Amino acid sequence: MEKEQRDELVNALRQISAGNYHPHIPVRGNASYRQLSAAILDVGNSFEKHFQQERLLGSITEKINDGLLLEEILNHVFQSFREIIPYHRISIALLDKDNKKLRSCCVRSDATKIKIAKGYSAPLEGSSLANIIATGKPRIINDLRNYLKKHPLSTSTKLIVAEGMRSSLTCPLIATHEPVGLIFFSSMQTDTYKNIHISLFQKIARQLSVTLEKSRMYEELMQLNELKNRFLGIAAHDLRSPIGVIKNFIILFLNGYLGEIDDKQREVLSTMDKNCDRMLNLIHNLLDLSAIESGKLELKPEPLDLQKFFHTYQSMTKSLAEQKQIELTLNIEPDLPDIMVDSNRIMQVLDNLVTNAIKFSHPNTTVTISARKRNGLVEISVADHGQGIPPDEISKIFKEFSKTSVRPTGGEKSTGLGLAIVRRIIEAHNGTIEVDSTVGKGTTFTINLPIGN
Ligand SMILES: Nc1ncnc2c1ncn2[C@@H]1O[C@H](COP(=O)(O)OP(=O)(O)OP(=O)(O)O)[C@@H](O)[C@H]1O
Ligand SMILES: [Mg+2]
Repeated sequence: MEKEQRDELVNALRQISAGNYHPHIPVRGNASYRQLSAAILDVGNSFEKHFQQERLLGSITEKINDGLLLEEILNHVFQSFREIIPYHRISIALLDKDNKKLRSCCVRSDATKIKIAKGYSAPLEGSSLANIIATGKPRIINDLRNYLKKHPLSTSTKLIVAEGMRSSLTCPLIATHEPVGLIFFSSMQTDTYKNIHISLFQKIARQLSVTLEKSRMYEELMQLNELKNRFLGIAAHDLRSPIGVIKNFIILFLNGYLGEIDDKQREVLSTMDKNCDRMLNLIHNLLDLSAIESGKLELKPEPLDLQKFFHTYQSMTKSLAEQKQIELTLNIEPDLPDIMVDSNRIMQVLDNLVTNAIKFSHPNTTVTISARKRNGLVEISVADHGQGIPPDEISKIFKEFSKTSVRPTGGEKSTGLGLAIVRRIIEAHNGTIEVDSTVGKGTTFTINLPIGN
């Protein structure tokens, strides 16, 4: 072979490795040159196919990472893999908890009448599918009608043949080493599937198994969360009464009903009383969280006169603010409409925001509660000139038990539950809450509530 021809072939190979899968090779030269160039073009074709497969498999991973559901991912597979593999129908069947039945959970088919639809279930025992589950090995049937003649009792084969399918490839779905179900690819032509198809179909099956595993884990997590809420609710509920009893006895002592007490004893009893209040406060918060999380938060909406509401709140809370030399001011737009809300819950929200503002501000600053009507909503804000929250910590403040590096200025206690409860109460009212904060300048929480009927 001449040097020029050799260079042409080397150049063609270089182009393939750079991603041009169909390089131009002039048709000339002797038989061995032509043979080599044909082989190189074949390599290009098979590289292209491989690349396309990897791209499509990668697109399944992307959909899984985007959190799409199994049905949506199966839709994507059904639409996009046609370019490279043959099928007219894809379906998934999952094993039930005790591995006795297979239930069809999603079906995509070109057939006009679906005979095995979502929800169809059949016992595994005695079925040929049991073997695929037991061995984990895929199975190809290249003539379903012929198979039916040999296995006339197979109802599912009868139904799939009635849908117009003539050949099938079945792969097990395996999640964390356990078989969880099967994926069926079927074609309207006989002899569609060959052993070379198996590895790609298995790769698709493996990707889909990841989604199955994810949704199973999510379900388990939800159950555990439910259990946690119930436990939290019961524990908090059962602690409330005995602490209430202890607090009542302390008050009896403090009021001298159980005999004279001296100053030292009074001091100790007062500390015990304050700690009981803290425990009761925490218990109320835990009960609230557990009720809200398990969907048992019941709102009692009624019309609320906002002017009166804010003034009452200000007079109740003024002294708490003054203990830290903080001024609590109001900036309420006149003529605000009444809003339909659960006033106790909205009071709880306001109190959480204002006590936070006081807790995280230095003395000689101001905390302002504002309210105005805006775009058909009522906007309520609580602004302080306190420490502010660092931008990278803002995202966690509404999560339960999460605190930031900002600490209370007067040694107040901080559990990290207040804002988690606030957010949920506001969302239960179909409202929104936002925060705007600058370190060293202060923080403003803004709530928007619908006016309601
Ligand atoms: N006005 C504010 N200024 C600065 N930081 C704040 C302010 N409000 C909340 N934070 C930060 O957000 C965290 C979460 O607030 P949240 O009200 O949920 O909990 P907490 O006040 O610490 O405890 P709890 O409300 O349960 O008594 C606080 O610990 C604090 O770090
Ligand atoms: Mg708080």
